[in-house]
Formats: sequence, C-alpha cells, structure tokens
Amino acid sequence: MPRSPNPTHDINLDPELAELLSEIERFGKENDRRETDRKRKMLNLEPETAALLHILVRATDRRSILEIGTSNGYSTIWLADALRSRTECKLVSIERSPMKLEMARQNLLRAGLLGSVTLLEGEASATIRTLEGPFDCVFFDADRISAPSHPGEIANYLSAVAGLVGFSSVTVPIGKGLNIAYRQSP
Ligand SMILES: C[S@@+](CC[C@H](N)C(=O)[O-])C[C@H]1O[C@@H](n2cnc3c(N)ncnc32)[C@H](O)[C@@H]1O
Repeated sequence: MPRSPNPTHDINLDPELAELLSEIERFGKENDRRETDRKRKMLNLEPETAALLHILVRATDRRSILEIGTSNGYSTIWLADALRSRTECKLVSIERSPMKLEMARQNLLRAGLLGSVTLLEGEASATIRTLEGPFDCVFFDADRISAPSHPGEIANYLSAVAGLVGFSSVTVPIGKGLNIAYRQSP
C-alpha cells in the first residue's frame, strides 16, 4: 500500500503535487522555527485545514476565489488545485510582501499552476478596491496568530463576521482554527 506523503488527510492529489506541498510544509516549518522576524515567517496553513478548504471549495462548487494573504503560495496551490478542471473559474491572491510573492510565484510555477492564479502585490484593503467581483469564496488569511491560544487576536474579525446580515458562521477546531462564514442566496 503506497504511503500517503501526508498522514493528516486523504485527498486525491496528484502524487507530484502532494510531494511538492509536503516540501513546502517542511520548508515553512523549518523557516518559521528559525526566523525571529514575524514578517519573514511563512505561517502556512496546516495541511488538514488546507485539505478541508479543498473539500469545501469542490463540494460547494466555488468558482471565483479571493485569497488574502498568499505568503509563499502554500494555500494558493491547494485552492488552485481545488479549482482544477472547473471551467470559468478564477483565483486572485493578494500579498503585501514582494519577497513572499516571488516565492509563491516560484512554487506555483513548480506546481504547474501559475497560469491559474492572479497574484497581486499590495495592501489588501487598497488592492481589493481595484478588483472586479463578484467572488463566491473569500479565504481571509492575512494574519493568523494561533487562534485557540490567542482568541483575542481574532475577536475583532469574529465580531465583524457576526455583525454581517444574512451570514451563518462556525469556527471549526481544525489546525489553528478555521472560521467558516456562509451567506445564503437572498
Ligand atoms: C498567515 S500568512 C498566509 C499564509 C498562506 N495563506 C499559506 O497558507 O501559505 C499571512 C500573510 O498575509 C500577509 N498580509 C498580512 N496583512 C496583509 C495585508 N493587509 N495585505 C496584504 N497581505 C497581508 C503577510 O505578509 C503574510 O504573508
């Protein structure tokens, strides 16, 4: 029985892509252990959270995704793969750090997915204003501090989501925590 390169999930990924994702995970962990400057940490999504995102995108047939917080492209690769074989889809990802965006470009190139993603460098709040929507999925990962141990860090975000009319939301205790908010069509 072939061993899955990642024991946290069982997603039918292309083996080469799975290997690349594992390599990026290892790089991110090693980098973040060494790096003292938070701005230079990769802060990649945990693989199980990325796998859940992948399932959600596919199961709910999302087609136009906006990601805020590309870092070196780990979650972007998962999202681009989830959109693979979908027609008329788009993935836009915003990152403020030019250095990380270049790493994302290289990783997406290696994954064969660079052509499926629009990478935008800049501050999310300003860049978003230049985008043409609509998006049917927003993955907001601009900054995450371990949610279970620092719930206060995302309290403002959670209360903003709670204040949105027509949204249902739940925080799933997976990885460092994933808040999922869903707006039912009016
Ligand atoms: C948690 S990391 C993203 C990790 C990435 N989603 C992944 O799984 O590989 C957060 C990233 O958001 C970027 N960021 C934070 N605030 C931002 C902002 N206001 N506009 C654009 N990027 C931002 C940071 O530079 C950092 O690279």
